[in-house]
Amino acid sequence: MQKYVINGKKPLYGTVEISGAKNAAVAILPAALLVDGVCRIENIPQISDVTLILRILQELGADVRLINKNTVQIDSTHINRYHVPEKLSRQMRASYYFIGALLGRFGEAVVSMPGGCDLGTRPIDLHIKSFQSLGASVNVVAGYVRASAPEEGLKGTSIYLDQASVGATMNAMLAASTAHGLTIIENAAKEPHIVDLANFLNAMGADIMGAGTDVIRIRGVRELHGGTYSIIPDQIEAGTYMAAVAAVGGDVIIKNVIPKHLDCISAKLMEMGVHVEEMGDAVRVRRMGELRRINVRTMPYPGFPTDMQPQIAACLCLANGTSMVNEGIWENRYRYVSEFRRMGARIQVDGKVAVIEGVDRLMGATLCACDLRAGAAMVIAGLAAEGTTEISRIHYIERGYEKLVEKFQGLGADIKLVEQPDDETRPHSRAV
Ligand code: EPU
Repeated sequence: MQKYVINGKKPLYGTVEISGAKNAAVAILPAALLVDGVCRIENIPQISDVTLILRILQELGADVRLINKNTVQIDSTHINRYHVPEKLSRQMRASYYFIGALLGRFGEAVVSMPGGCDLGTRPIDLHIKSFQSLGASVNVVAGYVRASAPEEGLKGTSIYLDQASVGATMNAMLAASTAHGLTIIENAAKEPHIVDLANFLNAMGADIMGAGTDVIRIRGVRELHGGTYSIIPDQIEAGTYMAAVAAVGGDVIIKNVIPKHLDCISAKLMEMGVHVEEMGDAVRVRRMGELRRINVRTMPYPGFPTDMQPQIAACLCLANGTSMVNEGIWENRYRYVSEFRRMGARIQVDGKVAVIEGVDRLMGATLCACDLRAGAAMVIAGLAAEGTTEISRIHYIERGYEKLVEKFQGLGADIKLVEQPDDETRPHSRAV
């Protein structure tokens, strides 16, 4: 076991380079299964979720070669299995993309129900309905999703999503890419990673239009061919460094970003009094004075992302006045609150609303990461706090942030990765 040890209150200065987008990579890598040939995928982040996906691809029979630390070559020509083992798929949410990809390639998929961060109930009914609309029979038996296309293959159809689900939109795109005829997804999600998956599939010969709007049209093609593709930069990783500068202070250039994807985050930071300046494929973030209170409501893209809610809450703990946060996507995304309170934060949670009364200072404490973004928010709070903060269960954070310690050290932060004796880990309290 390892933990982070942070000595806070050191303003951040310098330049940080953003890695490839986790939530694009975890869909695009399984999508390589649809290709009867070789895909070279660049700008993949070095994070544990990506390592797991690559292991699943290998278990299924793909030839996976790391060309360099951020480029992988996947040859799916000889894949002959469509059963994703439980021990791998239960460790992450995104294993559900193997259902759409295997169904599209073989007309069969057996995938254990996905795991991932505990953010409340995380149903996959919309994924299942989409596969069924395409003609597949889908059963959930003994913890496994078993999907099977009819003999004549999947057939294009009209899919209306009751909620603009990221995962269901991507899974429907995967399965429909090689279905017969036209599929129209209505009320589709519009996140940048949806567009990235569509661009990847189109680069491999698919025919997908409208990704990034709420109506996506997919004309099925007989087969996909190999090619090279580079994954977009991670909107949430960039947002996390932006929030860190806001909370801790300093002047940082965040490179390798698509500033348009950051507008929803920049707007809120600017409302708090933080300077955000676009510089081509970088943004410069500076905190000059005090942070102002704001209200935040998380919404599907282009609204403020739920995956940035804990990080902005860390900033609001130190803002001038009382802020309101309204979580519009997940039912249980305030598990970090009990940890922030240990640092002196004043937060009340009532259902989906958190009321945060800004305090003059946070004090370092011993914390326990409870999910990926909550863990990232604890790092921000630790960097902004007086004294020493220790964060355990950092495997959650490493699921989604490449080289977090090195990147913050490069900005002048005093953060270290240290070995932790097993008996030091405190169970996370589930008070809120
Ligand atoms: N929903 C359903 N039924 C479904 C699918 C979703 O009711 O079949 C509901 C969910 O319960 C939730 C809402 O629809 O209330 C949105 O869920 P969505 O399907 O969009 O989420 P997801 O695909 O499971 C992805 C990201 C999450 C991110 C959400 C929202 C991946 C692997 N995960 O999850 O990322 O919070 O979209 O943007 O792409 C993270 O990176 O920390 C993370 C949790």
